[in-house]
Amino acid sequence: MSNGATALLNDLFLRACNMETTATVPVWFMRQAGRYDADYRAIRQKYTLVEICEHPEVCVEVTKMPVDKLGVDAAILFSDIMVPVGAMGLPFVIKEHVGPVIDTPIKSEADVDRLRLFDAEESLPHVMQSIRMLKRELSVPLIGFMGGPFTLASYMIEGSPSRDYLNTKTMMAARPDLWAKLMDKLADMVIAYGKAQVAAGAAALQMFDSWVGSLAVPQFRQSVKPVVTRIFQELRELGVPLIYFGVNTGELLGDFAETGATVIGVDWRVPLSVARQRVGQAVALQGNFDPAMLYAPNDVIERIALDILAEGTEQPGYIFNLGHGVKPTTDIGVLKHLVDIVHAYKPGSAHS
Ligand code: CP3
Repeated sequence: MSNGATALLNDLFLRACNMETTATVPVWFMRQAGRYDADYRAIRQKYTLVEICEHPEVCVEVTKMPVDKLGVDAAILFSDIMVPVGAMGLPFVIKEHVGPVIDTPIKSEADVDRLRLFDAEESLPHVMQSIRMLKRELSVPLIGFMGGPFTLASYMIEGSPSRDYLNTKTMMAARPDLWAKLMDKLADMVIAYGKAQVAAGAAALQMFDSWVGSLAVPQFRQSVKPVVTRIFQELRELGVPLIYFGVNTGELLGDFAETGATVIGVDWRVPLSVARQRVGQAVALQGNFDPAMLYAPNDVIERIALDILAEGTEQPGYIFNLGHGVKPTTDIGVLKHLVDIVHAYKPGSAHS
């Protein structure tokens, strides 16, 4: 496949997303650009996270770092799920070691009405510019991303990271009309923003609905699944892989597979063979090495990785990843070693 200016595109990742059997298993890591890397930390001395996103040349540099240093088979745009929330008119800050904080969280119908849909080229020109530059410079596919509607709503309503999502779940239960209005508005944003990212050069989209696993199955089916399904149905016309990811989603995996997503992200709690039974044959799987096990001795890391690889490659359509993001204190050498383990693995050669 040709992508214009660059040398041959490594399309292993896209082929696995499209359910092809690949001779080598593709690998990338959620949060692969970040604080575990000393060069990233040096850049963060000079720029805040949001400032990195506002400077395309810095954003491109940070996005490319893990591709060059680790040899992963896909890049993920350096940004944050909250960036488009700011463009909707709800200001946020990323508080060090805490996460996104919003001083004026959503409480009322007027707050929801005030959120505006935006044109990504007009409101987030630096993001679109970064994607265009990356498309030219990368030799691997670029993954664009959006937050999932539940996860975005949880930050917008709680105003900060939450353990129990009390205000969010209360709105869902007590004001289903207002909840539906907010979900619809976020879905419209996610669809438009996803389409803009692909138009600019993203080769796949991942929707991070990180905290949706906090819901009971009936709540998910009633209050979130319809809007997630609308999102994926509308994005499917783009013809790019659509990954749906959350943590603690074991009980939801069957429902995830019915949303129209083409790849389902799995965390470490559910073995991939069990995940496969739950999602059926029509979608690819991505996951699911426990990021905490990157602190384990090498022989333990190898054993866990080989077990995951054996289960993942039982059927076509498998991408190696962690079950959640890389932790900031992870040793970069261990990440590199894990990439090498995955790339050396020959599907069909299950160890005993
Ligand atoms: O390498 C990549 O994966 C691309 C960059 C990326 C960031 N955030 C940069 C970032 C991606 C894909 C995200 C998505 C994101 N942001 C999610 C979904 C993924 C997940 O982890 O579940 C969520 C829930 C957020 C919201 C958010 N932003 C949190 C919870 C935090 C962590 C707070 C902390 O300090 O640990 C952030 C900040 C953030 N976003 C950092 C990075 C590299 C770390 C802080 C920094 O470097 O300043």
